[in-house]
Amino acid sequence: MGASTKSEFVVVANRLPVDRAVDEDGEASWRRSPGGLVTAIVPVMQRRAGAWVGWVGAPDEDLEPFTTEGMDLVPIRLSAQDVERYYEGFSNATLWPLYHDVIVPPVYKRTLWEAYVRVNRRFAEAAAEVAAEGAVVWVQDYQLQLVPKMLRELRPDLRIGFFLHIPFPPMELFAQLPWRTQILEGLLGADLVGFQSADAAANFVRLCRRLVGVKTQRGEVLVEDRIVRAEAFPISVDVKELIDLIGRPDVRQRAAQIREDLGNPATILLGVDRLDYTKGISQRLQAFSELFRDGMLKSGDAVFVQIATPSRERVEQYRILRDDIELQVGRANGMYSELGAPLINYLHTSYTRDELAALFLAADVMVVTPLRDGMNLVAKEYVACRADLRGSLLLSEFAGAAEELKRAFLVNPYDIDGMKQMMLRAMQADPADQNRRMRSLRKRVIEHDVDRWARDFLQALEGPYAPERPADEAVPTG
Ligand code: ADP
Ligand code: F6P
Repeated sequence: MGASTKSEFVVVANRLPVDRAVDEDGEASWRRSPGGLVTAIVPVMQRRAGAWVGWVGAPDEDLEPFTTEGMDLVPIRLSAQDVERYYEGFSNATLWPLYHDVIVPPVYKRTLWEAYVRVNRRFAEAAAEVAAEGAVVWVQDYQLQLVPKMLRELRPDLRIGFFLHIPFPPMELFAQLPWRTQILEGLLGADLVGFQSADAAANFVRLCRRLVGVKTQRGEVLVEDRIVRAEAFPISVDVKELIDLIGRPDVRQRAAQIREDLGNPATILLGVDRLDYTKGISQRLQAFSELFRDGMLKSGDAVFVQIATPSRERVEQYRILRDDIELQVGRANGMYSELGAPLINYLHTSYTRDELAALFLAADVMVVTPLRDGMNLVAKEYVACRADLRGSLLLSEFAGAAEELKRAFLVNPYDIDGMKQMMLRAMQADPADQNRRMRSLRKRVIEHDVDRWARDFLQALEGPYAPERPADEAVPTG
């Protein structure tokens, strides 16, 4: 993409889909960025021409726009101090815990807020620069909540949408934020503000009325002469990509190999998460190891595989979490494992999509137990991959996905005894029960895939729009 090319469609997100990683020898390489936002937006961008404005995940990188996997990327430079204050600080030590039920105490510091404002302006200016006259600009997530207002001031001709991938808190929590009014006003720069759930959208509208003093009516906020709409658009996964993956013989072979490498236990339980304190990793491992302590399970009955992608490693609460989990895994394995057969296989690393699909196929019980999660795409990815209608999904009531995936084995992750019972039920579910549940879960995910999510949002933002995929092309159900 040339520097002077203007785009009719622009996505603005904190991260680009690829990360620039520099190893110990100074060798740089590109790899897929972590997290649900990137998983969801990549297929949308690959099917619709446009530019993606974002950061490459490393400080002080000055890069020209470039193209990868069919996407035009416009890198934003962040200095080491920006990363510390805007990304690790205000985004991930202030907003992230505040928006996730204050699971850990949020940090409120003026220097962090100032960096957030400064970096949001940089993103807004870059988007204003690449957007064509009258273009559609879609701003993503909590790191960029001031961008809609800043962008509207620079470019009133644009149609601006915003989507929040994480929960939006109620008044009782949001009111703590010293800069609460500025955040709401920032979001009100959009024409359409999308949330994962109707509750989140209602929280936003109520907060606008109470804290900004604007008139509201159901899902609409009146701002001077404009109407800003707030609506729920539950995000989803690329079902087609996953079905293609599980159809590949090498992926199926790998799934069989994984089972064998684990010693062919009766049941494999799997967790796949960013290593984040919102994900309830410690609670699920506690429930699992207590089943051995209580004699409900014995070595050979079950193995837990916990994949934990390194995440936000310089933020204090994430360091504490990593130490806690690693201590917990070591203790449980030390107490209940037999030689050569650890109870918990813990892998602190990121995997390719192929390997993840093989893991999903190998797992009898997928354990998704966040303490709070906007959606949780892993739950939907597992369901999409189980075209054989086998396997059980153990899912937290506090994941946005639970609103749609009602036939999962639902748990309250704070209730360890309840989780132990439900874990056993999921492990013991007979094939007919697994089949009935999985059929219903898959129906929901297949009918509401990521294409539909993007289409619904963009149609609401810009009026009818023709999808790249022909309407009559059905998604195979595997
Ligand atoms: P979040 O956005 O909070 O990270 P989600 O569950 O919504 O949580 O999305 C996580 C995404 O990252 C999913 O697409 C999942 O497959 C992917 N992912 C999670 N852990 C790993 C891992 N270890 N390796 C590769 N991808 C991962
Ligand atoms: O979906 C939530 C989210 O925070 C995204 O905004 C983000 O890109 C992803 O998870 C991963 O987090 P990070 O970009 O901080 O590694």
